[in-house]
Amino acid sequence: MKLKSLAAIALLGATILSTGSAFAGVTLSIVSSDTGGSASWLRGVLDDFQKQSGDTVKIVGMPNSTTDQFGQYKLWLAAGNSDIDVYQTDVIWAPQLSDQFVDLTAATKDIIGNYFPSIVQSQTSGGKLVALPFYTDAPALFYRKDLLAKYNLPVPKTWEEMAKTAKTVMDGERAAGNKDMWGFVFQGNAYEGLTCDALEWVKSYGGGQIVEPDGTISINNDKAAAALEEAKSWVGTISPPGVLSYDEEASRGVWQLGNAVFMRNWPYAYANGNQADSPIKGKFDATTLPVGAAGDSPASTLGGWNLAVSKYSKNQDEAIKLVRYLSSPEVQKSRAVNLAALPTLTALYDDADIAKAQPIIPQWKAVFQNAVPRPSGPTKTKYNEVSNDFWSAVHDTLAGNGSAKDNLEALEAKLTELKGDGW
Ligand code: GLC
Repeated sequence: MKLKSLAAIALLGATILSTGSAFAGVTLSIVSSDTGGSASWLRGVLDDFQKQSGDTVKIVGMPNSTTDQFGQYKLWLAAGNSDIDVYQTDVIWAPQLSDQFVDLTAATKDIIGNYFPSIVQSQTSGGKLVALPFYTDAPALFYRKDLLAKYNLPVPKTWEEMAKTAKTVMDGERAAGNKDMWGFVFQGNAYEGLTCDALEWVKSYGGGQIVEPDGTISINNDKAAAALEEAKSWVGTISPPGVLSYDEEASRGVWQLGNAVFMRNWPYAYANGNQADSPIKGKFDATTLPVGAAGDSPASTLGGWNLAVSKYSKNQDEAIKLVRYLSSPEVQKSRAVNLAALPTLTALYDDADIAKAQPIIPQWKAVFQNAVPRPSGPTKTKYNEVSNDFWSAVHDTLAGNGSAKDNLEALEAKLTELKGDGW
């Protein structure tokens, strides 16, 4: 009883304190999805910011799909919405949203040299720093090391080997009683995530990057078609038919329950998979994605998230302080240690605490530095349509609506029309 009332008094104290600090500062809003449960981590670091700054920060929840987020951002920004101060932006959106965000060049000139120049470059559009890098991303092939050992099979190097190994282990496990076992899960829904997955298949088969850095539309070629036909052969065999509506979290759901041999996903899944209550804790590892054929190079799509201040924010100075805080070494380190997010600050790749907590991070420095960018640079403000046309052609192929060859031919015609006289 006594303890309870003490706790109640403490709670009251905390409420008074936080109300007090709200009066001292301003109230800011930041958008956030909750992939991998990241929103509760964000709340924790925002609470620290509130104590330091006297400001109050609210999280406005967002869907996990970057495609859905982009749609929402465009609506809000077009309407000049001043309720959102800080946006979290995908690496691909800088050229399309640059007019709506505050130029951060002057406000970050003392710290910008600490970030990877290529990432800063990706967030620079028309000479303006559109967003400050928060974390970077490059996917892995997650595999069940216990199951590969059980069947005495090596980690696969090509997509075909991956499919064969997936089938052997899946069949064996099903025969042994695990009827829910699948071979491979990935992101097959019709959205930006499928663009990322399919770019990896195409590029690793030597089929180019959809639209090349010089603006040439390259996607209609035999190697790209072969890559998509290979991926189609997985659906309903080693991958559940439902994979055609999976996003990152849906694939992680199957994987983390222990019901998949392989998964393609971003590094955050490494942290979730090793959480105390995870059925696969300690049973898996991560490696680079497979290649098309021996001799080809693996390809990982470059992902990542950044922090941008809305031009319509009424508290831009405080919002800039928040963005600087969230991408600071301390907060990026906390995100790396807790969520296995890849830092955008070069120095953190030598940090012993990060390496100990999430060994994938130092290993992934080379992977993200060699990752393939989506063609958002060359296609500028048309990227969203390019990507939409690409993921639709891929989704149709995976669903059996037309052959890869025919769908890529039609895609080329669409992109050519979209390009017109130039991107
Ligand atoms: C991850 C990546 C992002 C990508 C998205 C696709 O969040 O960081 O760049 O667009 O996945 O689903």
